[in-house]
Amino acid sequence: MRFDIISVLPDLLSSPFAHSILQRAQSKGIAQIHIHNLRDYANNKHKSVDDYPYGGGSGMVMSIEPFAACIEKLQAERSYDEVIFMTPDGETLNQTIANNLSTKENIIILCGHYKGIDQRIRDIFVTKEISIGDYVLSGGELPAAVLVDAVTRLIPGVLNDETSALSDSFQGDLLDAPVFTRPAEWRGHKVPDVLLSGHEAKINEWRHDEALKRTQTRRPDLLK
Ligand code: ADE
Repeated sequence: MRFDIISVLPDLLSSPFAHSILQRAQSKGIAQIHIHNLRDYANNKHKSVDDYPYGGGSGMVMSIEPFAACIEKLQAERSYDEVIFMTPDGETLNQTIANNLSTKENIIILCGHYKGIDQRIRDIFVTKEISIGDYVLSGGELPAAVLVDAVTRLIPGVLNDETSALSDSFQGDLLDAPVFTRPAEWRGHKVPDVLLSGHEAKINEWRHDEALKRTQTRRPDLLK
């Protein structure tokens, strides 16, 4: 799967994909993540990518031309399943959206800044608008990194133990059960006996009960 991320602050995206699971997904050749500097597509000598809003008001608006030039260059090279704009007024990201995107081949992600991007970019090029939650960040880079992480770990072959993505919180109807590692007792706090029993059926039953309890108390909406 290939992601092309278009950003005015590409340095913000140099680290999130260089570690752990995302780094492994790229070295295995399962995911390709390309970052494009929007300024490289500015057609003016100051390399500016924004301008004053028509109608007045505070804040700058990202211009149509640099985004259009970058998107059209990419689209001339291959076909894309989605052009996604990260924006707080988009559809809120959830596991269903991540699962669905993990089946795609090529995705372009646009990161906005300032007051927003010219509406015509959204109308003409964007196929999906995604928010990572009801709060406003300074730009779309961190949301883009969140999206790429959530999607990439779902691509078959990325996680070593395929079942571990399937048992994630949100992947079924339930949150994850609590987990423990050594030591079996720390300052008087003990790991539940059943987890030390070696009895697989009982362990599974305990995990399911705990997952249910946790979901009932924290996220009862998931059970409806
Ligand atoms: N850009 C700024 N805030 C955002 C958010 N919450 N989700 C997606 N993109 C954003």
